[in-house]
Amino acid sequence: MHPFQCVLRARRCLRRGPLASVSWLLLRTCRAHSSVPSSACPSPQRQQEDGVWKDFSSRLATGPTFQDFLRSASVPPEQPSSSEVEDPPPYLTVDELLGRQRRVYLETYGCQMNVNDTEIAWSILQKSGYLRTSNLQEADVILLVTCSIREKAEQTIWNRLHQLKSLKSKRLRSRVPLRIGILGCMAERLKEEILNREKMVDILAGPDAYRDLPQLLAVAESGQQAANVLLSLDETYADVMPVQTSPSATSAFVSIMRGCDNMCSYCIVPFTRGRERSRPVASILEEVRKLSEQVLQLIRERDNICKQIHLPAQSGSSRVLEAMRRGYSREAYVELIHHIRESIPGVSLSSDFIAGFCGETEEDHLQTVSLLREVQYNIGFLFAYSMRQKTRAYHRLKDDIPEEVKLRRLEELITVFREEATKANKSFVGCTQLVLVEGPSKRSAADLCGRNDGNLKVIFADAEMEDATDSRLRVRAQPGDYVLVKITSASSQTLKGHVLCKTTLKDSTAYC
Ligand code: 5AD
Repeated sequence: MHPFQCVLRARRCLRRGPLASVSWLLLRTCRAHSSVPSSACPSPQRQQEDGVWKDFSSRLATGPTFQDFLRSASVPPEQPSSSEVEDPPPYLTVDELLGRQRRVYLETYGCQMNVNDTEIAWSILQKSGYLRTSNLQEADVILLVTCSIREKAEQTIWNRLHQLKSLKSKRLRSRVPLRIGILGCMAERLKEEILNREKMVDILAGPDAYRDLPQLLAVAESGQQAANVLLSLDETYADVMPVQTSPSATSAFVSIMRGCDNMCSYCIVPFTRGRERSRPVASILEEVRKLSEQVLQLIRERDNICKQIHLPAQSGSSRVLEAMRRGYSREAYVELIHHIRESIPGVSLSSDFIAGFCGETEEDHLQTVSLLREVQYNIGFLFAYSMRQKTRAYHRLKDDIPEEVKLRRLEELITVFREEATKANKSFVGCTQLVLVEGPSKRSAADLCGRNDGNLKVIFADAEMEDATDSRLRVRAQPGDYVLVKITSASSQTLKGHVLCKTTLKDSTAYC
């Protein structure tokens, strides 16, 4: 018999600044009840007129006290906020916050920020025990991550909502009721206008309210509409690791900031996404680290990705690396090399080096020599330092290594690189390599050139061979073909061998 219910809750993660520490979150839920004829979310004025306000005041008097709301504010600011499931608000039980294997269908409209928001929303719901579905008919919860940038973008969502309305009304009684939510910019811009216009919408969550999705859905379970469209000054979802929503996606975005303060005269974004704020650098780095791990894993697993990584070291001396402002030490670099070698057995490594950078001592140079020996690169690009105008070194450092010393050191680096690369490449002699044919060899028209899985050049005679996919055929290798080549000799730059047969990436792997 209570047409509406208002709950005030202290923001869990009160981070920096006086403004942030007094930010409150208003979660308003509107009970869909037969005594509320048309407006699901009546204005306070009308509520007073209806005599409902009185009822609300008496409920407030017996409700939780100010102290109840401050409880969460005592969480130390540096701690990442834990999942809401562990700490439900006073009006919900832990059980009610759980997804209970309900299937969520997420649909994304608009910009890359919305793609990222979808990943954040999903990450939060997944932790609460929801399952994901890409089949609309299977969904128990449909969430549209919306865009308000132009009028047409919003019209698309209204049209979609009309389609979903019929899906909801046709829902079998034997299934749990279908819940529909509007997330993101349109929820923020239109607020209860959506709830009023489309009674079938159960939840609204603005761009800064995704942490409340489990709560909003829990409230919606009881047939009420639920909304949180408060914008925050500090929400960056720094501790929420986005889950890549599409396994077939070819790119992943790392969001580093939210909101916008530019206030371009035509643009709604500052009003839908709120004030500009940046993620803490540590959380960005952590996400990038995880993505890099995924890339290494993909390189290891997928035959169609070349197993070669270019890691420009520039110098083997931590002192010079610091002068170069590279941001890593020799030790950190070597550790990364070990990690990559463990992650991708047989990986081919290449690098860039500069000989004779400002202030490089003989000892620094020997450190670079020793790094070349230690890593044993397969491919290398080595240069004598030449000072460039406008660079930091030009303004702050002295190009104090004589030209002949630079060149002598460069020669030494090249010699050591070649010795090590030759050793590394000789290990392929006697092996059969899968080679992607590029075309005729530059040196001899009778030879073809291609690359093995480590991006090493492989030279072989352009001869007729068997097609392994159809042994009756005799063919000549064409650019783009895969062929098997038996390696017979190796230098620091190339492998040489004779072609065995034409094959495909799927059918064939290299062996020794
Ligand atoms: N002098 C010598 N080598 C340079 N490189 C970049 N700038 C210079 C310079 N001023 C080399 C680095 C870089 C590669 C592309 O060129 O090794 O990785």
